[in-house]
Amino acid sequence: MKMARIIFVTLLFFNFVIVPSIAFPAGYGLDLPNPGNQGNNNNNNDQPKETPNNDVVSNNIANLKQGFYSGSCPNAEKIVADALAEILKTNPYAVANLLRLQFHDCFVVGCDASILLDYSPTGEQVEKSSFFNGQLLKGADIVDDIKAKLEEQCPGVVSCSDTLAFAINEGMALAGLPRRVPLGGRRDSVYSLASVVEANNLPMPSWPIERMVELFTRKGFTIEEMVILIGAHSVGSVHCDIFMERIYNFANTRKPDPTLPGPVITEFQQVCANAGTPQFRNPPVNFDETPAVLDNLFFKNMVFRNKTTMLTDSHLINDPRTIPIVQQMANQDGLWQQRFPEVMDKMSAMNVLTGNNGEVRKTCRSTN
Ligand code: HEM
Repeated sequence: MKMARIIFVTLLFFNFVIVPSIAFPAGYGLDLPNPGNQGNNNNNNDQPKETPNNDVVSNNIANLKQGFYSGSCPNAEKIVADALAEILKTNPYAVANLLRLQFHDCFVVGCDASILLDYSPTGEQVEKSSFFNGQLLKGADIVDDIKAKLEEQCPGVVSCSDTLAFAINEGMALAGLPRRVPLGGRRDSVYSLASVVEANNLPMPSWPIERMVELFTRKGFTIEEMVILIGAHSVGSVHCDIFMERIYNFANTRKPDPTLPGPVITEFQQVCANAGTPQFRNPPVNFDETPAVLDNLFFKNMVFRNKTTMLTDSHLINDPRTIPIVQQMANQDGLWQQRFPEVMDKMSAMNVLTGNNGEVRKTCRSTN
């Protein structure tokens, strides 16, 4: 009996003290304070800071154009398309990887491929090293491969930011959206700073809806556009540690999130198994059942099954401002597929460098 109690207490300690600290390193996935409620928190990473670019987001879509490389690299779009098709044979989630990469690039200063730099000229930490990108921001290697193909045929011509944009444009068509001619003309930044990422420019999966709305509106998007953009969670996956609290220990209640239905909790617990034990492997969980297809199943799951993984997604069906938008996207097949590319056009033109600004990097990981 005494032995059983010791084992029970040890398990509890491991489950609720050790594992959260392993599962949520440096606060990732943990609840961070609201901008207006930072009083007692000493973690600097929690504090929105002033940055030069925070308030000035310009949408430079008019400076971008179709066929931008028609003179300098007429096959640019095709080179990208062929390279991506090859990559998709071994990585069916390449489109998901790239979409997230561009979101994390564009929201930090602008769509200037700063997320891809491995070094900053000043030696400071670069964007990709910030914990706001999670442990696993994938896709940089995909851009490397595609850019290498472009460099073979058109050295020094196509920027890394356009390479990423063209790959996403092609990837969206391959993932089921209508085919479109991509806009080009972006140039690459010559610096990348983790401190700018952490200055309240990227969201955390534990944020309340108010912070999400504040961020997206500050970046120039309406609430409707925010919901449509988050619909990118139609593809790809999320690791268990990001939302484990919701299925095992919601708000320290040691019970699952009461808004999650039983079958959904069971489904997630089966994948995110062995929580609180050394056997826990933190696997990825697909957002929906068609993780390589850009469809509205992500929204249908929300409306018809109350199924969401991370907390920020769940807010979308719990807030009166976003519920009607989610319902519309779920109920009108084809609507999200039509709107998503439009809002992506807007996102992929945020604060772009054009003309003589920035440079065209030869390799995406370092400045020229
Ligand atoms: C409040 C807003 C958002 C939050 C908190 C958020 C957070 C996250 C997190 C934590 C992951 C999982 C990372 C992992 O475990 O590997 C993820 C995945 C992903 N996010 Fe978001 N995201 C948001 C909005 C967006 C937007 C606007 C886009 C694109 C336009 C996007 C695209 C993606 C994609 C495609 C994936 C899957 C990536 C993959 O499987 O490689 N997200 N997001």
